Amino acid sequence: MLPLLIPIVHKCLHPIKYIKMRPLLLLPLLFVPSWAVDPTNCATSNKQLTPSDFLLETQPDNPNVASLSAIFAAQNKKLTISQLLEDVNHRLTTDSSGHKVWEDTPSFSDQDTTKWMPQGISSSADALDVGTYQGKNAWVVSWHREDDKSVRVTFVDRGNGDRYRHALLVYPHAADDFREVPIHAGGIVWYGDILFVVDTSKGIRAFDLTNVWQVGTTGEGVGKDGSGGYTAAGYKYVIPQIRWFKWTPTSFPFRFSFIALDRTTTPDSLVVGEYQPNTTAPVRFVRWPLDYTTRKLKAGPDGKTTQASWAYCVGIERMQGTVSANGKFYISRSNGKNSAGDLFGWTPGSLAYNNAGFYPRGPEDLSFDKRNGGRIYTVTEYPGARYIIDKPVSSVRFS
Ligand SMILES: *[C@@H]1O[C@H](CO)[C@@H](O)[C@H](O)[C@H]1NC(C)=O
Repeated sequence: MLPLLIPIVHKCLHPIKYIKMRPLLLLPLLFVPSWAVDPTNCATSNKQLTPSDFLLETQPDNPNVASLSAIFAAQNKKLTISQLLEDVNHRLTTDSSGHKVWEDTPSFSDQDTTKWMPQGISSSADALDVGTYQGKNAWVVSWHREDDKSVRVTFVDRGNGDRYRHALLVYPHAADDFREVPIHAGGIVWYGDILFVVDTSKGIRAFDLTNVWQVGTTGEGVGKDGSGGYTAAGYKYVIPQIRWFKWTPTSFPFRFSFIALDRTTTPDSLVVGEYQPNTTAPVRFVRWPLDYTTRKLKAGPDGKTTQASWAYCVGIERMQGTVSANGKFYISRSNGKNSAGDLFGWTPGSLAYNNAGFYPRGPEDLSFDKRNGGRIYTVTEYPGARYIIDKPVSSVRFS
């Protein structure tokens, strides 16, 4: 199918066109005092927002992770991600389009289940610049439960025939207990030993990949099981939340819909975007700087507040994911249950280009991998059309 430039793009991304065609007029905008830019108003010609309006505050580490870690370590049930990946129990297959298909057998179907929906994707190429983590070349995918009251993540060992294993994310609410994590998990980033997961209206949660705890697989409960053991809704492994980054502005909300890592900025950064069904509400991207030595957001002078380094009105409806690398943005858009999804290529300063129908229906979060000439990963969410998709960046048009 030939990529088409849909006319609505001109409307949606009017500011980009504006900048391109009338570059001199951009100059005065740079000197607009910051107090004059309303962070919620995307209906003006100035799409560049004031980054310092977009604040996240690093919350203290959860002390219950250490006490629970000691409990599991004492029983030899504290494992690593590579150990989890050596205990895989399911397998992806590859269809004729090259898409990875979830396990689908008469007794078990991740491909068709309506209980869990895949949302976020990241990989060992995000985790570490070398591209592998503990020797593993892996994907990680997040799934929200249909009621948004629990999240599971899937680690896929690409070096072992795409075999995979699910684990449940948990929140340690007591020194010796944990419970489910009731969020949508629309995007994830694997960064060193941390898994960042977006929490729609509240900010970003961080899970500790050095703590993979093995629990009993009999029983539907999550947490202490009353007989001295632990369970996690039948899953064999759990991964605990260690901290979170709180959206602190009270004067306006921001939607943490999807997230990606950019290793090509200095320092590394996270880009978070907003899903909106239409452009009545502001539809923005925000970039926050990371500290690779702590795997936390890079805090300012108070040691806990992180100002964004960039914030922008993008104005594309139904965005489900973005990732930036080398100054270029890739933006996925869903078009409902029955229509193929789109992938926009956008170089800031130019018009975004819609590679219409680039994806099957239901594309979600995006992730970048610099290896093999540059790859873009996504997951599609609908039962029966649920894939991990790995495409070369060279297949994405920008104009
Ligand atoms: C835009 O989306 C909002 C929900 O975010 C909805 O309430 C509103 O009716 C929509 N407007 C139009 C014009 O479709």
